[in-house]
Amino acid sequence: MEQWIGAVAVVTGASAGIGESIAIELVKKGLKVVGLARRIDRLNKLKEDLKNESGEFHPIKCDMTIEEDILAAFQWTRNNLGSVNLLVNNAGTFRNTNLTEGKTSDWKTVIDLNLLGLCIATREAVKIMTEKNLAGLIIHINSISGHFPLITVASMVNVYGATKYGVTNLAETLRLELATKKSKIRVSSISPGAVKTEILEASGLDKHEIDKMRIQNGTALLEPVDVANAVLYLMTTPPSVNVTELIIRPTGEIM
Ligand SMILES: NC(=O)c1ccc[n+]([C@@H]2O[C@H](COP(=O)([O-])OP(=O)(O)OC[C@H]3O[C@@H](n4cnc5c(N)ncnc54)[C@H](OP(=O)(O)O)[C@@H]3O)[C@@H](O)[C@H]2O)c1
Repeated sequence: MEQWIGAVAVVTGASAGIGESIAIELVKKGLKVVGLARRIDRLNKLKEDLKNESGEFHPIKCDMTIEEDILAAFQWTRNNLGSVNLLVNNAGTFRNTNLTEGKTSDWKTVIDLNLLGLCIATREAVKIMTEKNLAGLIIHINSISGHFPLITVASMVNVYGATKYGVTNLAETLRLELATKKSKIRVSSISPGAVKTEILEASGLDKHEIDKMRIQNGTALLEPVDVANAVLYLMTTPPSVNVTELIIRPTGEIM
């Protein structure tokens, strides 16, 4: 990991769950981490919590569904930290609704964040990596629902699975596009099963519904740090190795 000390990472959705855990582990490893999210109070608290670690944490308020916010965050990173060596496209969400009665605005929120926000952040990171001739690493936090339909929760995931199947395709399309250009940038997808985060609360489910869903899926859950450790693993692989997909499930998951 020594080669990453002082490197610059952008982590989207760093105020909670998997993104927060990834940001913590990267700062502990000595990286300069730019954490993006809407809840700036949470990001500022994380900065305070990490002040004695070897790396740095730079909070930026950014709504990943607003292009100007994303462009401004990358401009700040370029101006103040000079490069982007690692991008973790983690921000993502789903809405507790369905395909037969759901509101268009709910579907649009999910599509704008999970697909379009990820594409815009990726484009901006690639521009900086290419300009600086960096062997950068781009990691999409995908989902098992980007590979299989989730049968036990099918009635509540609506467009979420479509966006994550989209992320699977975007990762491979980006890898091929970069390879065609003889770029040194690597692209990886990490696809977790259920993780103990705030994603179900953010979707609009109440506590009773969350408990019911967790029982249906088997009670085991991954911890956010299990996913953060997968990011650290990808970072330890040599520049000549591109791990394209990691599927990680809690043992005993039924989903
Ligand atoms: N938890 C799971 O079981 C699970 C399983 C597989 C894959 N995943 C994927 O893992 C990723 C992280 O999810 P999580 O479980 O950690 O969820 P979470 O606990 O709800 O955290 C979501 C993060 O995304 C941010 N976010 C949401 N909307 C945003 C927006 N419009 N602009 C900027 N940031 C936004 C949130 O920050 P603010 O609200 O402060 O903006 C928060 O930091 C997602 O891509 C999700 O699909 C999760």
